[in-house]
Amino acid sequence: MNIAVIGAQWGDEGKGKIVDLLTPNASIVARYQGGHNAGHTVRVGGTEFILHLLPSGILHPGVRCVIGNGVVIDPQALFTEIDTLAAQGIEVGGRLLISDRAHVILPYHRDLEALSESRRGDQRIGTTSRGIGPSYEDKVGRRGIRAADLADGSEDGALASAIRANVSARNEALGGAAADWRALHADVCAAARRLAGWVGDASVFLARAFEAGECVLFEGAQGTLLDIDHGTYPFVTSSNATVGGICTGLGVGPRAIGSVLGIVKAYTTRVGEGPLPTELHGDEGDQLRESGREYGASTGRPRRCGWYDAVVVRYAVRVNGLDALAVTKLDVLDGLDEIPLCTGYRHGERLLTEFPGSRTVLAECRPVYERLPGWSRPTAGVRRYEDLPPEARAYLGRIEALSGVPIAIVSTGSDRADTILVRDGLVDRWQAERALAAQESAP
Ligand code: GDP
Ligand code: IMO
Ligand code: MG
Repeated sequence: MNIAVIGAQWGDEGKGKIVDLLTPNASIVARYQGGHNAGHTVRVGGTEFILHLLPSGILHPGVRCVIGNGVVIDPQALFTEIDTLAAQGIEVGGRLLISDRAHVILPYHRDLEALSESRRGDQRIGTTSRGIGPSYEDKVGRRGIRAADLADGSEDGALASAIRANVSARNEALGGAAADWRALHADVCAAARRLAGWVGDASVFLARAFEAGECVLFEGAQGTLLDIDHGTYPFVTSSNATVGGICTGLGVGPRAIGSVLGIVKAYTTRVGEGPLPTELHGDEGDQLRESGREYGASTGRPRRCGWYDAVVVRYAVRVNGLDALAVTKLDVLDGLDEIPLCTGYRHGERLLTEFPGSRTVLAECRPVYERLPGWSRPTAGVRRYEDLPPEARAYLGRIEALSGVPIAIVSTGSDRADTILVRDGLVDRWQAERALAAQESAP
């Protein structure tokens, strides 16, 4: 009965909108990886919310939210987000649970990231500068600090000693003005006092929720092609954004995952550096960027834009075991005469239909396009599948055929209401199953 929402391209596919849409069917929404590098936009009746670290389900009263052990948390960024939401009338209160195993991001992580990016020169990743990568490096390097460690306020305890060692490594790496570990320790202890009420065992919490028949929505951040293992390495983020991250990042078993919904834009974007086979340079790219308002929700950076890449999405279907797709931003393609769609890559004499692992090969690939007719009647705001122009339906049909999975949702605008729930799709089945389960458990 649970459902996972996963980005099937390079992030910013519209996961926030879809999570918000599906949240009424869940009582818990859980993030399992990433951190405040994410920017998930939810638009409800003219009000826009951008969630970074908090699961997007927090906007729904009564829904509880989990930040799993696989997430890296910048306490100050979390407080800012909670305070901003409070100012918008959304109270987090006791609805949040942060895994005691989640690692924290501290200021030295951002400093080290700036150093690493500048050293890379033209090989820089183009990160979000949030300290995400260095925090995961500390985790894997077994010198990270977890939420559970923050309770130790003494100057000769384990927390102080870890901060001291990490600050000393930072000072050695950066030179220049040294950071003061004591000042940081005091800041961390103050933050720990505010965090304490939210920290607990998320795995136990979720296990009890499953036993009680509650429905959980797993909210992915970033996207499949930004995954540390399956993405366009090294131009990726530092976590597993793909489905496997749910088990490791929350402490749940694979059977807890339920259905897996992949979110795709009706075209492709990426922010930061790295390969993007269908990228459009010049006017066409600028036009997509402007029509789609393709500027980062976290950093404001312009997103690189290109045509829909079926090789990428088929890859995402495979590595995540996607059951269905939600296609967003169909309206952005309104008014085009013709819409190219990439069905394979030309590599020398060969035609590749599987996404290559080698970055050298990928750099040499040229997209092979099929061209579909555009539509003149706008799809913006259309809420019934039957009301879509036949050419738009044909375009979606081609996406389905090339991906091998059905489309469950089509989004035609940023607002919650501008959505088509495709009949007999995953969402219908999911709602029907829940209704049946509720009947069966009724006295
Ligand atoms: P996320 O990171 O996957 O949650 O996506 P972002 O929020 O970073 O970026 C998606 C952007 O597209 C946001 O500005 C959304 O408001 C917007 N959006 C989502 N769905 C649609 C849609 O169907 N049409 C249009 N025009 N905008 C959309
Ligand atoms: P959501 O959840 C798009 C990109 C960065 C950079 C790379 C590594 O909103 O889809 P990092 O700071 O994570 O070390 O940066 O990953 N990136 C995203 N791109 N959407 C995101 O999140 C992203 N989070 C990170 O631009 O290329
Ligand atoms: Mg985003």
